[in-house]
Amino acid sequence: MSNAAAKVIDHPLIQHKLTLMREKSTPTAMFRELLREISLLLLYEVARDLPLVMKEIETPLEKMQSPTLGGKKLCLISILRAGDGLLQGMLDLIPSARVGHVGLYRDPKTLEAVEYYFKVPHSIGDRLCIVVDPMLATAHSAIAAIDRVKAAGAKKIKFVCLLAAPEGIETFSKAHPDVQIFTAAIDRELNDHGYILPGLGDAGDRIFGTK
Ligand code: PRP
Ligand code: URA
Repeated sequence: MSNAAAKVIDHPLIQHKLTLMREKSTPTAMFRELLREISLLLLYEVARDLPLVMKEIETPLEKMQSPTLGGKKLCLISILRAGDGLLQGMLDLIPSARVGHVGLYRDPKTLEAVEYYFKVPHSIGDRLCIVVDPMLATAHSAIAAIDRVKAAGAKKIKFVCLLAAPEGIETFSKAHPDVQIFTAAIDRELNDHGYILPGLGDAGDRIFGTK
């Protein structure tokens, strides 16, 4: 169920693919491919309000005014490393998008986000920035990433994930009330180790086969 801070994109194709991803028996290659497929479907919805401008073109029969995407190209920003699982499919849909990376890992004891890399295009202030990470758990990683992206000049930001915890949505929307969250599902709760229940486990490990 969507709420003010988070829009749930509950298309049947997304829900079906997400169920396959949650299954612990789903192998790495299939998990990665399902995430890529879902990323296309999520972006379709996230991009719904992109501005269009009319342009004159010539069909084989006559001239016409036809809509094209207006304004500067988007910037996709991946929170490493699991964000890269959503990035590639989105780039297939909008190949001219600029790309930024924020490298963060969660300290397993404190659950605080620790930054190890940051690189975004200079011109992000003029672009819609779509920050992607499959998991919004405590929200520490997403908040830290968006703090940095805003400090680098971004003004219009959307956050796209696959699964969100209610606790994470609440914390995130207090820190960044101007940033809308798009997610495929809102799960029940976090466990004592900050994992989403029922969830799908550690997204990075499942994408890259590191466990
Ligand atoms: C995972 C996930 C998010 C973060 C979410 O990354 O990809 O970035 O945890 O948790 P949070 O909302 O509590 O911050 P992880 O730290 O495991 O790093 P990885 O992507 O390198 O595996
Ligand atoms: N990060 C993950 O990869 N999975 C969770 O459930 C929580 C944080």
